[in-house]
Amino acid sequence: MFRDAHRRGRKLLSFAETEADGGRDLARAAELTHDALLRRLYLRHALDEQRHAALFRRRAEVLLASFSGSRSSFEVSWLAPGERGLDDLRIEKENDEDLLAFLHLSERAAASRFVIYESVLDSDPETQSIFAEILRDEVFHMNYTEVQLRRISPKNRGKRLFFARATRLWRGYLRVAMLLAGLVAGIVLVVQYFVVLPFFALVAKRAARREPVGFVSRSPKLASFGSQYG
Ligand SMILES: [Fe+2]
Ligand SMILES: [Fe+2]
Repeated sequence: MFRDAHRRGRKLLSFAETEADGGRDLARAAELTHDALLRRLYLRHALDEQRHAALFRRRAEVLLASFSGSRSSFEVSWLAPGERGLDDLRIEKENDEDLLAFLHLSERAAASRFVIYESVLDSDPETQSIFAEILRDEVFHMNYTEVQLRRISPKNRGKRLFFARATRLWRGYLRVAMLLAGLVAGIVLVVQYFVVLPFFALVAKRAARREPVGFVSRSPKLASFGSQYG
């Protein structure tokens, strides 16, 4: 997936979108929290994610600018999802404990994915250095969320992490299920178009061949019924 520079550019663009989304959600979380320290940390986190988005977008533009013409737009985002961030989380409905637990797991997953991306990018040192730079921030995000979760929820930390993990697993399952449903729907449509439709077209064509050509005189009996004066 990262071998082709054009696909790499498209992938970085999608990463940029996810990072920017995460940044917006964290800015909202900073507005909503009543904890002064968390507000500062959420704001710093939001700024980091915005900066990551800008770094990915700039690099994607450089990579994509070196290509012209149309290329395949097929992307399998769940195979290389980048940082999933807050991923459909409704910030307004989450308390700080659940938010920190979810963030901690997301940042940890992102950090381990970015280690892999960085390791396979030897052929593109510029993109590699961007991943290395972002990875440092992701490690900070992963650590501060755990420290803060311990601070505000020392007794329920394990429970919060368990529920956050279950939620992430459920969402992962839904993503795969939706992808499979889309694939199956596509296959059914193709079969309908190339197998069922030609079959009915053939039957209709044969039936049309049996029909007499041109005007056909109706039987006198029927004709008399047809006339309003007859
Ligand atoms: Fe990030
Ligand atoms: Fe992050």
